[in-house]
Amino acid sequence: MIEYSPKFEQGLRLMLEAVAETATSSAAPLDPAAMNGKLSELAIMRGRPAFYPYLGSGIGCGSRAMLADGRWVLDLALGIGVHLFGHGNLDLVETAIRAAASDLVMQGNLIFNQEYHLLMKTLLAYAPRGMAHCWLSLSGADANENALKLVRQKRNGRPGIIAFRGCFHGRTSAMAEITDRPDYRIRQPQTFPVTYLPFYQRDDPRSAMTTLNLLREAIARVGDQTAAMIVELVQGEAGFVTAPREFFVPLFEECRRSEIPIWIDEVQTFARVTELFATSLLDLADYADVITVGKVFQGSALLFRKEFAPDPALISGTYSGATVPMAVARRMIEKLTGEGLLGSEGREKQLERLTHDNLERLSRAKPGMISAVDGVGAMIAFRVGDGALNGTREFIRRCFEAGLVLYYGGHEPACVRLFLPAGVLTDDELNEAFAIMESSLG
Ligand SMILES: Cc1ncc(COP(=O)(O)O)c(C=O)c1O
Repeated sequence: MIEYSPKFEQGLRLMLEAVAETATSSAAPLDPAAMNGKLSELAIMRGRPAFYPYLGSGIGCGSRAMLADGRWVLDLALGIGVHLFGHGNLDLVETAIRAAASDLVMQGNLIFNQEYHLLMKTLLAYAPRGMAHCWLSLSGADANENALKLVRQKRNGRPGIIAFRGCFHGRTSAMAEITDRPDYRIRQPQTFPVTYLPFYQRDDPRSAMTTLNLLREAIARVGDQTAAMIVELVQGEAGFVTAPREFFVPLFEECRRSEIPIWIDEVQTFARVTELFATSLLDLADYADVITVGKVFQGSALLFRKEFAPDPALISGTYSGATVPMAVARRMIEKLTGEGLLGSEGREKQLERLTHDNLERLSRAKPGMISAVDGVGAMIAFRVGDGALNGTREFIRRCFEAGLVLYYGGHEPACVRLFLPAGVLTDDELNEAFAIMESSLG
């Protein structure tokens, strides 16, 4: 990386001190009426309002962010799971400033700098075994689009996909066709066949066998038209639904027998499941053919086995990412692997336990209000009351008014999803979040 002069280093120190000072002493950039005015303008420009009246000031500290009107909120939504190290993290700000000072804002697949090389090298060093190559892109859906091309190429143009009920893989045209939300593709054509299997049902002892039988039927019916099976090892948008290794292994074995590639979508799970990869956590590396990551990765990437290497012109694009997020993603991986966040005794696991304890206490304090607790590490979800979408959204709005940012997932029943900023969240902050949730339950 660039070695700047002592002048740069001195300036950088001063800048970081100023950032830290601003986070504790700064006045609000806007008054509440002016912030609401900007949010109304945004609603007009976007063609629809924001989910909650959140306009960030750009000032944040740990798990908290200051809104433009000066109100501080505790953030357990993290831009849908992106900011694992919270807000205004000085280590990441320093990384970002260094990267911002280099000559390119954006990097591409033709011209790239060292951040591109270092990020790929770091990701591949920690990738599940067998992943030989890496391709960077911008959004989770971009990485999935690239993955779709690779599996179709390997399968000589077979178009079909086997996926799971409740799955979410993005909103580009092809990903919306796979994502199991028909309400997200109203008046859109279905251009290739997608066969859905039921995901693991914890309460049904026959769940694994039912899905396996349905997979066998699907392969007999459409296997010769199928490019791949796509799977989230912990379902994300469906509400952090987990499944044990024993659920996946027979399904993957069955796919292997029919030479159907296995495409693991880790866009949402990357870095949040007590390991960098859910594939490694569940010891499923031997089955993965292609893996996609995003969100905490600050961009996205496709990892793949040697045999899936694309024809030269199959995947590319102008951008591979911006210089700052590339550098920050690499630093995040270093922090995740070097600062005790991962593993069976790491901070993510501790937070998982503390969150479960808190949910148990809350369900005793508010009988009938908390159920269906699921998730792992920094992604835990639960149902409020009967899980009606409107009631869940109302609960989240009340929490927001009380200073806690949450988000939901799933659809009738919906659930509250806790996106924990595991890199910075303290036990006291988690307790504070639960105190707000308790009073917001009424
Ligand atoms: C599992 C999964 N795949 C893909 C995506 C799409 O990612 P993006 O919104 O960055 O395109 C998401 C987004 O929530 C996701 O959860």
